[in-house]
Amino acid sequence: MSGETPRKRGWGRFFLRLFEWSTLGVLLFVALGVYLFYTELRPRVIFGLREDFAHAIPFQKVPAGIPSLKAEDCGKCHREIYEEWKTSYHAKAYTDPFFRAYWKKDGEVWICLNCHTPLANQQPELIGEIPRNRIEKAVRTPNPDFDQALREEGITCAGCHVRDGVILGPFDDSVAPHPTKFDPQFRSTEICYRCHQVPKGPFQFYDVGPCGTFPEYEGAYFSQQRNMTCQSCHMPEVQRPMANGGPIRQGRKHLWRGGHDPEQIKSALAVQLAADPPELTPGAPATFTLTLINAGAGHKLPTGDPDRYFTVEFQVLDRTGRVVKEQRDSMGRWIMWQPVIVDLYDNRLPPLASRDYRFSYRLPESPDLLAGLQLQAKVRYHILTDQAYETLKTRYGMPGDHPYNFTIYERTVPLSGPLSAELIPLGRTPSAHEGTSCGKKG
Ligand code: HEC
Ligand code: HEC
Ligand code: HEC
Ligand code: HEC
Ligand code: HEC
Repeated sequence: MSGETPRKRGWGRFFLRLFEWSTLGVLLFVALGVYLFYTELRPRVIFGLREDFAHAIPFQKVPAGIPSLKAEDCGKCHREIYEEWKTSYHAKAYTDPFFRAYWKKDGEVWICLNCHTPLANQQPELIGEIPRNRIEKAVRTPNPDFDQALREEGITCAGCHVRDGVILGPFDDSVAPHPTKFDPQFRSTEICYRCHQVPKGPFQFYDVGPCGTFPEYEGAYFSQQRNMTCQSCHMPEVQRPMANGGPIRQGRKHLWRGGHDPEQIKSALAVQLAADPPELTPGAPATFTLTLINAGAGHKLPTGDPDRYFTVEFQVLDRTGRVVKEQRDSMGRWIMWQPVIVDLYDNRLPPLASRDYRFSYRLPESPDLLAGLQLQAKVRYHILTDQAYETLKTRYGMPGDHPYNFTIYERTVPLSGPLSAELIPLGRTPSAHEGTSCGKKG
């Protein structure tokens, strides 16, 4: 038997009820807040909208004098340019398995198409008003002019060159079977800006938008001091007829090599490896310094897609190939994606910047352990992490196998004998005693 009076028990029950209801109230309130945050405040995609890509490039009709807008048809007269374009990721911007898997992950939302298939002709829907810039609220209607085959061409020739029945280009003296017009944008970075400047949206605290290469380029060395455009490095100059049988002109290869091409990445990086002290002593510690220099990219290294990163790896291997000691560092961006996007850390290299990665190791004393011992230094470029790659395959059905990381630099140094001269830091020679160097005169 409890000693409580019925009255006391009544109050107890009342407060318990009140507590239950208020907890429920708070939970409901939080749930409503979360719902409103995700549907009304936080953008549906990881970037903001900008006027120039919020809508597709309006429908383009076929210019007079040519059979169609198809790249293959342009290629009948502009054969080499067509062959180059076909190998580029612009041509694959829609069929690219990485794009398709990520697009699926994002619910195949229409906004992606405005850069990956930029012409209205290439899109199954026409997009009208976008209330409050919320892409999921956009007014969508079926597009009667949708051309499925042209969609497969991604960033096709016409996406850059055809406007209002005229073919725009970098010359003012062409003699062509189709109407042409000089457009200064082709000689400047203006032509790339539309798609390579992706801004941040509300509740997205990026330093630089997700694929926004422009802010890393503008005002930096190659643009400022060298006057180089995106084309200088991504569309190499060439002397040739621009159309079959035409006069030789100064043009540019339509290659746009980037993160999927190891050679392009190698052209960005200068790597140096040095040892300190310059003479290895059994039983004593040695420090190896690998220096990465962004010597050839007009923007940060890496740039673009925030998935991209580099790793710098050191490994000491014994004579059987067993790893005795290792160290791995990364260079890229670390972004918190939920509940708001915050650029946590960005240690990418701006143009001409360099960074040292140090690795210390105490050499074994015993000649037996020392024999065959070697140091391996490696720099690798990653399109995305192993985990993200697996997720795209297992959850979003990415078909086939695709190279997604490349070794950009690799060097093996034996630790049992004398170091090669190249590893010795400039200005120092083995056994150079202090006092005999040029610094000290008698
Ligand atoms: C029947 C052949 C033919 C076809 C098809 C054709 N072109 Fe041309 N195009 C030419 C010729 C010829 C020139 C001028 C060559 C010259 O003056 O050196 C030219 C010039 C150009 C220029 C330079 C314009 C300028 O003044 O800067 C561009 C850009 C161009 N074409 C793009 C295209 C595209 C894109 C397509 C497909 C939509 C296409 N062409 C289809 C033959 C063709
Ligand atoms: C209509 C939009 C659009 C325009 C205009 C555009 N790009 Fe791109 N670019 C893209 C998209 C989308 C991709 C990614 C395609 C993919 O990998 O699926 C891309 C990829 C690239 C890549 C990386 C290729 C790789 O191997 O990963 C480079 C480099 C590039 N573009 C350079 C340029 C330059 C230079 C210009 C200006 C001359 C330009 N782009 C104009 C949309 C565009
Ligand atoms: C991403 C935009 C883009 C795409 C896609 C594109 N071009 Fe170009 N094109 C350019 C730029 C930029 C130039 C100016 C190069 C220069 O300064 O010489 C150019 C120049 C040209 C020229 C003039 C010759 C030259 O080399 O300057 C022709 C012809 C041409 N393009 C045809 C094509 C054809 C055909 C395709 C498709 C197979 C195509 N382009 C796809 C951007 C593009
Ligand atoms: C001085 C030469 C140079 C200039 C100028 C330059 N780039 Fe690059 N770009 C490179 C090199 C080298 C790479 C490969 C290394 C890397 O990924 O950063 C690259 C890579 C890229 C990539 C591929 C990113 C990836 O991994 O998918 C894109 C996109 C790109 N550049 C766009 C541009 C745009 C847009 C401009 C103009 C605003 C531009 N670049 C100006 C040299 C240059
Ligand atoms: C404002 C233009 C723009 C929009 C909108 C856009 N992208 Fe892109 N996308 C680009 C550019 C430019 C690149 C090339 C950057 C690079 O290579 O690093 C790119 C590259 C990519 C890549 C890397 C492809 C590869 O080969 O590794 C994926 C994946 C991608 N985009 C998915 C999407 C998805 C999904 C959406 C919609 C939610 C979207 N993009 C919307 C411009 C855009």
